[in-house]
Amino acid sequence: MPATVIVGAQWGDEGKGKIVDLLAQDSDLVCRYQGGPNAGHTIVVDGDTFKIRQIPSGVLRGKTCVIGAGCVIDPEVFLAEVDELEGRGVSTGDVHLSGEAHLVMPWHVAIDQASERRLGSLQIGTTKRGIGPCYADKAARLGIRVQDLLDAKILRQKIEVALAEKNVWLERVYGVPPLDLEEVAGQLETLAQRVRSYVDDTALLVDRALRAGRRVLLEGAQGTLLDLDHGTYPFVTSSSTVAANAAIGVGIGPNRIDRVIGVAKAYVTRVGEGPFPTEIQGPDQERVRELGGEFGTVTGRERRCGWLDLVALRYAVRLNGITSLALTKLDVLSHFDELPVCVAYRLRDGSETHEFPAHQSDFHHCRPVYETLAGWQEPLEYELPEAARVYIAFIERALGAEITLVGTGAERESVVSLR
Ligand code: GDP
Ligand code: IMO
Ligand code: MG
Repeated sequence: MPATVIVGAQWGDEGKGKIVDLLAQDSDLVCRYQGGPNAGHTIVVDGDTFKIRQIPSGVLRGKTCVIGAGCVIDPEVFLAEVDELEGRGVSTGDVHLSGEAHLVMPWHVAIDQASERRLGSLQIGTTKRGIGPCYADKAARLGIRVQDLLDAKILRQKIEVALAEKNVWLERVYGVPPLDLEEVAGQLETLAQRVRSYVDDTALLVDRALRAGRRVLLEGAQGTLLDLDHGTYPFVTSSSTVAANAAIGVGIGPNRIDRVIGVAKAYVTRVGEGPFPTEIQGPDQERVRELGGEFGTVTGRERRCGWLDLVALRYAVRLNGITSLALTKLDVLSHFDELPVCVAYRLRDGSETHEFPAHQSDFHHCRPVYETLAGWQEPLEYELPEAARVYIAFIERALGAEITLVGTGAERESVVSLR
């Protein structure tokens, strides 16, 4: 299958990095299509942990890696990631960065932080990496792009124009110190020297690869419920995370995508604010967090933990056109006598629905309707215990989609292939 999208089917951190790393073995190119340094994809190789933020996870397999036009890049974070990977013996020589991708500038980070502070109890709980303000400037056509790094004069001019406005916002609206033009321009010019060599016409590169019959993975960041249009707005990220955006984000036609693999945890986590119907109340929340090591890759925040939500997951299957699923972290559940699984939502008027509510208030007030399945205590090896098989079959039936991969541990090799 030449072009496969790997998409998060929940609220992010589903284990996309690990699944991409696995499938990258049989691929030639791995491309990111949206998001930026808000992402944190963890891959554990022989006990060594890699936390990758902007470069596609395929870099660890030595594959050609593309950061597409739909992404936003913080050049400082990007170069730190390059240095870290190179320092650990991973080459970044075959990483290609779209000139059309937008740059996360220092004022985006400052505004993201100040804006969250200002919202107080209404905050979104962003990663504070400047993602929202950067995508907002892109849509407002005020953004600075990777290709602007290629010309020092243009870069300085654009920084000057942007800062003239951003400093007013920083000082007058947010009451924080303005940024110094010389300092910012100098810093960006230095970073530009090194970033330049990665800039490429990546849409052309991907098209040529597909024409030559090479296999391409399109790696999503965040997850379906964080999608700007279809997620739990406003508690979402500022890009379109769903599979269809993979075509836009790398610059190929939608008919080039052959397969969509959803990645979902065997339970659910969420970082940041926003409604979360199956969030566990009581000590099991802490237990799942500890067993699953559920602490944010980027911010170190505790991830909120919940039982598997099949209403939300069915919505993700529908929105993405998911053809098969990787169910990760099933091993984390190997400690519970019973496993509640949400099969429907009860709405405020007392009715039950199996469909994800289209209206925000319905979702905010819905209550999960659980069916309880038997748990298992055995650690997961290649043979899954009967109760784990029942759990998987139950999910497949509810979703009408196949689970083809099951995660049984954080290590690269800890995956069971079911078909
Ligand atoms: P991503 O952002 O979707 O790539 O996911 P993250 O890397 O942020 O979070 C997933 C976490 O779970 C990481 O710490 C992974 O090492 C870990 N992980 C992935 N798959 C499994 C699995 O099957 N079992 C266990 N125990 N850990 C896993
Ligand atoms: P990966 O790729 C989990 C969440 C933030 C916040 C919301 C908006 O590792 O799955 P943003 O900084 O994007 O404006 O924050 O989105 N969020 C993520 N949650 N995994 C991620 O990435 C996330 N990226 C952003 O916590 O709720
Ligand atoms: Mg993550």
